[in-house]
Amino acid sequence: MLKKKDKYVVAIVGATGAVGNEMAEVLEERNFPVKKLRLFASERSEGKIISFHDESVTVEILTENVFKGIDIALFSAGGERSLHYAPIATKEGCVVVDNSSAWRMDPKVPLVVPEVNTHDLKWHKGIIANPNCSTIQMVVVLKPIHDAAKIKRVVVTTFQSVSGTGKKAMDELLNQTSDLLNFKDIKPLVYPHQIAFNCIPHIDKFMDDGYTKEEIKMVNETKKIMGDDSIRVTATTVRVPVFRGHSEAINIETEKKLTANAVRALLSKAPGVLVYDEPEKNVYPLPTLTAGKDEVYVGRIREDTTIENGINIWIAADNLRKGAALNAVQIAEKLIEMA
Ligand code: A2P
Repeated sequence: MLKKKDKYVVAIVGATGAVGNEMAEVLEERNFPVKKLRLFASERSEGKIISFHDESVTVEILTENVFKGIDIALFSAGGERSLHYAPIATKEGCVVVDNSSAWRMDPKVPLVVPEVNTHDLKWHKGIIANPNCSTIQMVVVLKPIHDAAKIKRVVVTTFQSVSGTGKKAMDELLNQTSDLLNFKDIKPLVYPHQIAFNCIPHIDKFMDDGYTKEEIKMVNETKKIMGDDSIRVTATTVRVPVFRGHSEAINIETEKKLTANAVRALLSKAPGVLVYDEPEKNVYPLPTLTAGKDEVYVGRIREDTTIENGINIWIAADNLRKGAALNAVQIAEKLIEMA
């Protein structure tokens, strides 16, 4: 449990990665009460300097002995590191907000999106899981609709940027794009296929039933965060050649009828959501618009005329911010409020 203090010793585990980097920026931007920032990565990054406010912070090697004296650790260094180091950190009294999928479905670990289920933070035992990026941006929008009209079923297709895979994938998209434009041969390294000028309907591993793990995460995590096992979710997740920002086409079937205008009114009052929906002026969410922004943008709000109570929407959000770093920092802010 976090003790009330004026300022906290905060660590970022995986500080040199795409999400870790963003975590430091979000902590700085939101003036998080940081007494001291500690940055950890692999031995490859030892000694790298990252600036935080007016200071230069040196990246240290992650070992089992580093957690003494750290109040809050934001983890984004992959599932294996989280599985191994998060319990070690909690033994030292450190509260861990973990961005990997390692702890998300553990019944003893809350899975939290502050706009949806802050109340679940009450029962944490040292580790809080940050949900999957595509799930976070979807549930922020589903929650007010569920509260108003009870969602029965969700059909979602994602268009996910390469930053969700990490820094190496961003380099791969950049290099492939430039090589192909210069008539050079390319060799896919991070993804099984060329990602430049392509769409790959394959995120994370395939399961026996033909779904990918990313699709299953969206199904299971949505139920856990919303606290309702009755919501049926089916997903198709697709990697697209976008650097930053995930988009999603979502079809929602509700028990009660909601008009498109009613959905627009509900979402315009919802925390963390920005209704961006004037199609006649070409105004709709785009990943280029949401880069660096905190809100989940929602537009293309229409009634689905093929079922009795259905709505179609299109959303976009910055996967590195609301989908990862910002949500983790917001969880830490709530923990401080509750301390
Ligand atoms: P490093 O840069 O030293 O490899 P991304 O998801 O963008 O690829 O970032 C992954 C983050 O996790 C990086 O900060 C990376 O550090 C860190 N990381 C990867 N493997 C380890 C490890 N064995 N120990 C500590 N940090 C690690």
